Amino acid sequence: MIQLCYVFFMPEMENFLKQLLLQAGERLRKHFGRVKTIRYKESPINLVTNVDQEVEKFVKAQIRKRFPEDSILAEESPIEKEEAPRRWIIDPLDGTTNFAHGLQMFSISIAVEVGGDVVAGGVNCPVYGELFFARKGKGATLNGKKIRVSRVKKLGQSLLVTGFPYDIHEHPDRSLPYFNAMIQRAQGVRRLGSAAMDLCYLAMGRFDGFWEVYLNPWDTAAGSLILREAGGVITDFNGRPHSIYQRELAASNGLIQKEMIDIIAQVKAGGVREMAL
Ligand code: IPD
Ligand code: CA
Ligand code: CA
Repeated sequence: MIQLCYVFFMPEMENFLKQLLLQAGERLRKHFGRVKTIRYKESPINLVTNVDQEVEKFVKAQIRKRFPEDSILAEESPIEKEEAPRRWIIDPLDGTTNFAHGLQMFSISIAVEVGGDVVAGGVNCPVYGELFFARKGKGATLNGKKIRVSRVKKLGQSLLVTGFPYDIHEHPDRSLPYFNAMIQRAQGVRRLGSAAMDLCYLAMGRFDGFWEVYLNPWDTAAGSLILREAGGVITDFNGRPHSIYQRELAASNGLIQKEMIDIIAQVKAGGVREMAL
């Protein structure tokens, strides 16, 4: 397996990936406040702007030039070369709703998966000048400096973050009961609007826990590696290991994971719903 990683993630790729994140982030920053077109995807609250599409096109073109045989899974276009052993997973603009409203919380996320395992990934938050990066087994960094999750031990002293799916108008029951339960137990709950940033902020200790339902692999591929490499834990709602192809996740500094999973289990069993809604 070590050999497979070496063959498929060559050392020079780290620099390529970091440069790509910086260049794409710069494009996002330049277009910030100058969105030209907004379209709606499956629902009237699920936006895509000209900037999502332009930045995705740029990122894909750079990857294609250097690694023409690789698979590319990007949010705004169909998957390419699905069977290739190495896959680039791209969210060109995570936080599109924020971006369209002129709110600075947005990022670009790019990860590299080899044989089904995310081996490298980075998240760039260009307005804040923060580049999070990790390689499997080598730790996680923020602008080159090692990061670690927080040491908060109790949910009652924790700051959590979450997000809501785009079908919330039709299906509020799928996500709000978890929010209702968590906000009554934690010190606070925030909603940034960029799942990639949520995971990175958790990885460097600004948050202590994060959960969300109905995410996509491009939202979590880079951030979940960064979190694990910073000492965090990420599971599904049953406490089992998380795959980026699963929609739900519960993540934390590890110390409050059990408390979070217990609450999720209570919500699933219907025990918390009545006290909240
Ligand atoms: C969204 C953000 C948001 C999360 C949504 C995602 P997008 O991604 O990550 O925080 O709550 O579920 O879809 O659409 O801005 O790329
Ligand atoms: Ca996203
Ligand atoms: Ca996006």
